[in-house]
Amino acid sequence: MRTITSSFDYQVYNSASELAEADQELLEKAKQAVATSHAPYSRYHVGAAVRLANGIIVTGSNQENMSFPAGLCAERVAVFAAVSNYPGVPLASLAITATADTFEVAEPVPPCGMCRQAIVEFEMKHGNKIRVILGGHSGKVYIIDGMETLLPLTFHEAGLAK
Ligand code: THU
Repeated sequence: MRTITSSFDYQVYNSASELAEADQELLEKAKQAVATSHAPYSRYHVGAAVRLANGIIVTGSNQENMSFPAGLCAERVAVFAAVSNYPGVPLASLAITATADTFEVAEPVPPCGMCRQAIVEFEMKHGNKIRVILGGHSGKVYIIDGMETLLPLTFHEAGLAK
């Protein structure tokens, strides 16, 4: 038996104003997308913005449903819209943020496990890392150099593609 330790580095910025211009712009688009959230059940409004390798930005927000499992997270709404409207174009970066009706979202908002799995597929497809920018409504911003970094021991089954 042996133990393997897995760790990763990420950057912490004290506020969005410290980010590089392109990251700041993407996070701002994600903040704007929060306004399109349909979240009457959780009252937690998530916005996501994807920058494609061709520079185009596509946004999405969480869309809930009274049949709860039918809803979809903001990240998958944004990414699926991006890849279906611009097929074949790699994803360069993804910004995520949220607001809540009943509390201040002061910590960076990480993607859920299903979104990590769904998005890492496009890193594998195109062979590039997607820069992940996580913000809250206020406060710190985290930058992670790729979605696979957030999904240790990612499911890769090359055999399924044959
Ligand atoms: N949500 C997202 O949009 N993205 C995530 O990564 C986590 C959660 C949404 C789903 C639901 O509409 C609300 O946030 C509360 O879970």
